[in-house]
Amino acid sequence: MSGKLQGVVRSFLDPRTYAQAFRLLHFASYSHVQPVRLLNRGANVSFAPNVSFRNGERITIGAGTHIGEHSIIWAGNTSGRITFGEKCLLAPHVTITASNYGTELGEFVMDQPKIERDITIGRDVWLGANTVVLAGVTIGDHVVVAAGAVVTKDVPALAIVGGVPARVIGWRGGVEPAAADSSETLATGSAPAGTGAGG
Ligand SMILES: CC(C)(COP(=O)(O)OP(=O)(O)OC[C@H]1O[C@@H](n2cnc3c(N)ncnc32)[C@H](O)[C@@H]1OP(=O)(O)O)[C@@H](O)C(=O)NCCC(=O)NCCS
Repeated sequence: MSGKLQGVVRSFLDPRTYAQAFRLLHFASYSHVQPVRLLNRGANVSFAPNVSFRNGERITIGAGTHIGEHSIIWAGNTSGRITFGEKCLLAPHVTITASNYGTELGEFVMDQPKIERDITIGRDVWLGANTVVLAGVTIGDHVVVAAGAVVTKDVPALAIVGGVPARVIGWRGGVEPAAADSSETLATGSAPAGTGAGG
């Protein structure tokens, strides 16, 4: 018998292989299958089968939103909500968490009470690959978050933000909009021109 075949036979005869398969099944259940049942979601919402959700009853996803693979959407255990508007696009590996551990000295971080704050994300928001959105943040409509950004503060509508911590690096349409007319751009049919991050 070849070495490779021997390895395959060894795997199938090892009870730990089946224990690990069971653990992976259990993980898929509590991190995806069960919370997905509790989501409040609009029509045509889609997400990769390996998106990790927690506390789905506190997650609302607007119609047409897509969540990319390996993303993590964790609402708080007791109060922290996560809300997406319609037609948001989440690239792979986006992490959104509505809670933080306390950082007081004198107690292990993992033993400190969690601080939960809501996260609200507008409509037509694009979160680039590997972005992180922290608890308490509100992101306005039509925002682009550049790949790799960590969003720690509120983001105004139509902004393009990037970096750690995220700062405005441009505006959709190329110019900073007047505060009052920023939210209805797509609704009126005049789509923002390109991303224009350099503007
Ligand atoms: C934000 C983004 C859309 C900007 O694209 P763009 O309009 O072509 O912008 P440019 O590449 O011309 O860059 C404009 C400026 O933003 C900066 N910038 C671009 N991407 C950045 C990023 N991820 N983080 C920080 N700064 C960034 C550039 O360095 C440049 O700065 P400068 O004017 O000082 O030179 C794009 O860079 C991005 O991050 N896309 C996400 C891609 C992704 O995650 N895809 C997954 C599939 S959904």
